[in-house]
Amino acid sequence: MQVYLNGSYIDHTQASVPVDDRGFLFADGVYEVIRVYGGRLFLAEPHMQRLRAGLAALRIDAAVATDLLGVAERLIRDNGVTGDGTVYIQVTRGVAPRRHAFPDPAVPPTVYAFAKPFNQYPRDYFDRGVAAVAVPDTRWTRCDIKSIALLPNVLANQQAHDAGAFEALFVKDGILIEGSHSNLFGVLDDTLVTYPSCNYILSGITRSLVLELARELGIPAAERPIPWDRIDDVQELFLSGTTTEVMPVIRVDAHTIGNGTRGPITARLQEAYRARVAELTGVKSAA
Ligand code: PDD
Repeated sequence: MQVYLNGSYIDHTQASVPVDDRGFLFADGVYEVIRVYGGRLFLAEPHMQRLRAGLAALRIDAAVATDLLGVAERLIRDNGVTGDGTVYIQVTRGVAPRRHAFPDPAVPPTVYAFAKPFNQYPRDYFDRGVAAVAVPDTRWTRCDIKSIALLPNVLANQQAHDAGAFEALFVKDGILIEGSHSNLFGVLDDTLVTYPSCNYILSGITRSLVLELARELGIPAAERPIPWDRIDDVQELFLSGTTTEVMPVIRVDAHTIGNGTRGPITARLQEAYRARVAELTGVKSAA
């Protein structure tokens, strides 16, 4: 596999970063994951916008992101990703002796990217739904930044894995916030609801698309929290994300959601999502 590292296209086995990279020492960096369908980038521009916003928040020169879409396209081509895939991009503040404050003068950021085929989740996950576990939200209060510091997400996701569930749902102050690597939607009181876009969640590109599709379909929607103590009133629940797409959740811990099958609003949004994938990439059969 050919990867991109600091301006060069090299074999994956040859790619390495110095131990003084601030990504390694401080998790001082941001990343993006972009979906590829039929060898084509899906919603690439909003992902790049979010990357630029993340770089600005970290005060890393956003000029490093200027031609990253060109890089992504070349990686897709050179690695023969002709079907489903993902592109991963990571930018760190660069290499400097360990000291908390930024290196002065600034050093060149480390820029790493790869493209690889994505093994789609089993069809069942989308048609029948998956299980989730609820976990306390132990993250910082800038979850809007797509930081490479993902330890709480990793630990939460492992907890889900250990329980045989697909996703861990963060609960903060009695509110269901989002998943360890996905956003969360519910149908509550006949309205599609999702946690408001703010510093407590990553404002997902897929989340925005789902809200747009709901508007187009005339589904009543609101950016409103789902209280954990109303979990048994939730009619439908689903995850949204670049890799998870629109995935029904039919159980959270011991609570069955709705009648334990994919709900009708979820199904309509999945269909609309697939239609949008087809429209933008020409791919007819996304999950
Ligand atoms: N995760 N919330 C969190 C915490 C996430 O990590 C992600 C994405 C999302 C969904 O965002 P989007 O729709 O833009 O993918 C929400 C990526 C896929 C990952 O870490 O692999």
